[in-house]
Amino acid sequence: MASHSRTLLFGIIHMTFIIVGTTSLAAKEDPGRTDNGLSDHNPTNPGQGTSCYVDVSTRMVNCSHRGRTEVPGDIPSNAQILSLSYNLLQKIRNESFAHLKNLVDISLKYNVICAIEVGAFFELYLLQSVNLVGNRLSVLPSQLFSQNFYMTDIFLRDNNLTDVPDLYLKAPNLSFIDLGENSIKSANFRMHFATECNIMLIDLSNNHIKRIRESDLTNLNVCSNINLIDFSSNDISSIQPLSLHGMNVSGIRFRENPLFKKGVVEIFEATVKAPYVTYITLVRTRLPCLSADIFIPLETHALKTLSLSENNISSIPDNVFHYLTRLERLHLTDNKITVISPSGFNNLSSLEELFLDNCRVVSLKTPAETGVWEPPLRALSLGNNYLHEIPSKAFVGLKVLIYLTLHFNSIRVIHPDSFYGLASLEVLQMEDNLLISPLRFGTISTLITLDLSNSGINSLDPHNTFTGLSSLSELMLDNNYLHISDIWDNEGNISIFRDLRKLKKLDLSVNQLQSELPSGCFKGLHSLEQLNLQGMSLPRLNPDLFKGLANLQLISLDDNALKDLHPEIFHDQGNLFSLYLSRNPISSLDDQLFVRTKKLSVLSLSSTNIDVITEKTLGPLIPSLSTLDLSRKALSCNCKNNWLRNWIQNSSAEVLLDGTICSSASPQKLEGKPFEEFEPALYCGPKILLYSCISVVSVMIIAIMVLLYYNRWWMNYKCFLLKLCIIGYSEIVEDRDYEYDINIVFEDADEEWVNESLVPNIQEREPEVRLLVGDDMLPLGMYRLDAVAHVIDNSYKSVFIVSQSAIKDSWFLTKLRIALQHVNHAKRDAVLFVFMDDIADEDLPYLIRLLLSFNRPYLQWDADPRNQECFWELFTKSVRVTTKLNYTIPF
Ligand SMILES: *[C@@H]1O[C@H](CO)[C@@H](O)[C@H](O)[C@H]1NC(C)=O
Ligand SMILES: *[C@@H]1O[C@H](CO)[C@@H](O)[C@H](O)[C@H]1NC(C)=O
Ligand SMILES: *[C@@H]1O[C@H](CO)[C@@H](O)[C@H](O)[C@H]1NC(C)=O
Ligand SMILES: *[C@@H]1O[C@H](CO)[C@@H](O)[C@H](O)[C@H]1NC(C)=O
Ligand SMILES: *[C@@H]1O[C@H](CO)[C@@H](O)[C@H](O)[C@H]1NC(C)=O
Ligand SMILES: *[C@@H]1O[C@H](CO)[C@@H](O)[C@H](O)[C@H]1NC(C)=O
Ligand SMILES: *[C@@H]1O[C@H](CO)[C@@H](O)[C@H](O)[C@H]1NC(C)=O
Ligand SMILES: *[C@@H]1O[C@H](CO)[C@@H](O)[C@H](O)[C@H]1NC(C)=O
Ligand SMILES: *[C@@H]1O[C@H](CO)[C@@H](O)[C@H](O)[C@H]1NC(C)=O
Repeated sequence: MASHSRTLLFGIIHMTFIIVGTTSLAAKEDPGRTDNGLSDHNPTNPGQGTSCYVDVSTRMVNCSHRGRTEVPGDIPSNAQILSLSYNLLQKIRNESFAHLKNLVDISLKYNVICAIEVGAFFELYLLQSVNLVGNRLSVLPSQLFSQNFYMTDIFLRDNNLTDVPDLYLKAPNLSFIDLGENSIKSANFRMHFATECNIMLIDLSNNHIKRIRESDLTNLNVCSNINLIDFSSNDISSIQPLSLHGMNVSGIRFRENPLFKKGVVEIFEATVKAPYVTYITLVRTRLPCLSADIFIPLETHALKTLSLSENNISSIPDNVFHYLTRLERLHLTDNKITVISPSGFNNLSSLEELFLDNCRVVSLKTPAETGVWEPPLRALSLGNNYLHEIPSKAFVGLKVLIYLTLHFNSIRVIHPDSFYGLASLEVLQMEDNLLISPLRFGTISTLITLDLSNSGINSLDPHNTFTGLSSLSELMLDNNYLHISDIWDNEGNISIFRDLRKLKKLDLSVNQLQSELPSGCFKGLHSLEQLNLQGMSLPRLNPDLFKGLANLQLISLDDNALKDLHPEIFHDQGNLFSLYLSRNPISSLDDQLFVRTKKLSVLSLSSTNIDVITEKTLGPLIPSLSTLDLSRKALSCNCKNNWLRNWIQNSSAEVLLDGTICSSASPQKLEGKPFEEFEPALYCGPKILLYSCISVVSVMIIAIMVLLYYNRWWMNYKCFLLKLCIIGYSEIVEDRDYEYDINIVFEDADEEWVNESLVPNIQEREPEVRLLVGDDMLPLGMYRLDAVAHVIDNSYKSVFIVSQSAIKDSWFLTKLRIALQHVNHAKRDAVLFVFMDDIADEDLPYLIRLLLSFNRPYLQWDADPRNQECFWELFTKSVRVTTKLNYTIPF
């Protein structure tokens, strides 16, 4: 019997445990290793040269923030863009850039440059832009840019210039000269243009200019059209009448200069000589009040835009603007005008936009009191004032008004005819008011946008409020105090939105509705594209709420109390693009929820209780999904989210995992950790490992079964021994006496062992035992076969010593046959095998195999002395036990 195969059996079982053990061990160790791998990653910057960052592809050299006192010598000569900003350069020399002939753009801002040598930029034929902002320059050599034909910008802001530098310029495309934040005292524009001048913007703001003289700006007369000269934040109080003469300038800005009325009038007088001026900014020029005479000079001028904001204007006298018949835009914001009357704006026959925001306006005089509005206004802005009522027919005359802004007032009262006559009104901004009285808009059939956000509304009439607004496209009702009865009449089943068939955007967010919206609430709003139901404390959604709203592109349900969603609630939303479900106690998503939303691209589930997202649920969205927000929530970091984790890793969609952690359903080790730390490969095992485990296990099972089969007798024996141990044994008490207790049958080769080992041991243990050892003791006077049969018949046990040589001996086998015949005849297990050698099963004689297959016990001699004590004990026990057989061995 192959004992090495038994060792193998043990080995395999043992190995199985080792493999299983180490696999689970590996699972626990691996994440740590992965982390280390990441933190070891240390990107090297290939563009990091010795002193500057060089970007080869854009030919940009970045030497900023390096504490440099000189221009570095190792800048590649093909550099086009060079930054030396935030260094300590003091002087730019002829040689500084001489070898950098390809430079297009140089930034030298925020150094301490106080001098530039005249030839510094001579060699730089391609130079377009020089940024010298934030240096200490007080003078510049006049020829500094005389060789630079391609210049477009010169930045000299924040230096110590006391005059406009007398630069000689021959760059036709020069468009911006920034001279702001210097100490320039004179408006004398000393720059000289050798060729054409196409300057668009000259910034002279934040200097110390006190006046503008007649000849100061004459050098600019060659310029084709200057968009803007900015004189803001100077000390200008006077302008000579001819100072703009001959200039083609569109706009002049005098913000924050102490002009007072005198200076303002002088500016208007100078403007007369500059017919191309279309806008003048006189913000914060200390103009104390308006009177018609100020504007006399502009009577024939085509000024289009005038800003008089941030002055101390406290009233608008009737007809005060009657010389400004061509004015199109008038800014009067941030003044102190408490009363607005239409007659103040008489004769402004071109005015299209009027801004009166933030003027402390308390009341509007009505056309009934002062005559109708004359200007053909398209936009009127009265935001941020103190209005508390819109009087009846307040805007009569404004037939072409499109935009009316009334936000941030204190309006409580609107009359049904407040907006009477606004035949073209499209946008009405009424947000941030105190609309506590019943709200009615009458018929504004042109209205497209109505903003009533945050206006304290706590009562609407479902039957009337929005009935006349048949063109309405956007309705904002968010941040109010609406109840379900304000939008739905339960008795008539009437929704306040029923007539708004063109509505595209509806915002009802942040109204503490606290009850379910009836299914018919949005019925018929077929054009609806955006629906905001955020923060309404909705406890649940009617399954039919969105039925028929096939054009919806955005639904926000953030910040409600939704616990679940009906599987078919979005089944009509084939055009849905964004869906927000954040901050709801939703715990799961149905597999059917997204099967029809084939265009959904943005899905927010942040701060929900959903902890598992399966492929079945999200699968239909994957082709369209671009953003999935899973931030600030917990997800199960277990195999249920195996798919999700793998998909996130590989997906082209942006998945937000800001504050996404592993839920309590995760392995303890991961609970509370960032979801990104969950590596399904380690915790669930990728399929390949699963398959290999399965195959290893099945190979083992087969191997074990094979070994069990081959060792079945050894196993039987062990079972037998076990049985002996557990239940003990019952000897057959037989009335008959045997001649011999033990009959030992062996082949000659085993004689030595029998005589020297077996017999002495038996005698030592059982001194009384009657032994019959080998053929020598066979009874005399009988045929040999008869003698053998007699002996077996008269022995309590016949012990066969089975060895390699014994099984080849025919006499031994004959005796075995006789013994088995006896066993069959006597119906008791009178035979015991003692195996001396490992004998392969196939070498065993058929008879022995046959007997062993009947669960007959046997003993295996072990040459190892340590195991022999055990053997003898077993032997002694075995020879004393006989059991009754209830079968016949078929041979
Ligand atoms: C140049 O480098 C500085 C840091 O050294 C960086 O702040 C700046 O953005 C860079 N500029 C450009 C144009 O890359
Ligand atoms: C710089 O170059 C200009 C023009 O080539 C020359 O006139 C001037 O002397 C030079 N300055 C110095 C210090 O070399
Ligand atoms: C000026 O700009 C125009 C249009 O961008 C361009 O075609 C022309 O080459 C430029 N001329 C110079 C001298 O930079
Ligand atoms: C430059 O201006 C600063 C502040 O305006 C002043 O402190 C400094 O003395 C001036 N430097 C020169 C060289 O004029
Ligand atoms: C002045 O500028 C305007 C606007 O660009 C232009 O139409 C007009 O021809 C210019 N006039 C002169 C004399 O250059
Ligand atoms: C406006 O007038 C008040 C006095 O009525 C004065 O204190 C304030 O300085 C003036 N503001 C401007 C910008 O002139
Ligand atoms: C300005 O309008 C008023 C009333 O509409 C009219 O009486 C007056 O003649 C107009 N003045 C001018 C200069 O057009
Ligand atoms: C309102 O709707 C409910 C449910 O759809 C219906 O039972 C009821 O009869 C309707 N009432 C009216 C007045 O149509
Ligand atoms: C990742 O995506 C690519 C291409 O879409 C695919 O071939 C690959 O199998 C994916 N890998 C995993 C782990 O899903």
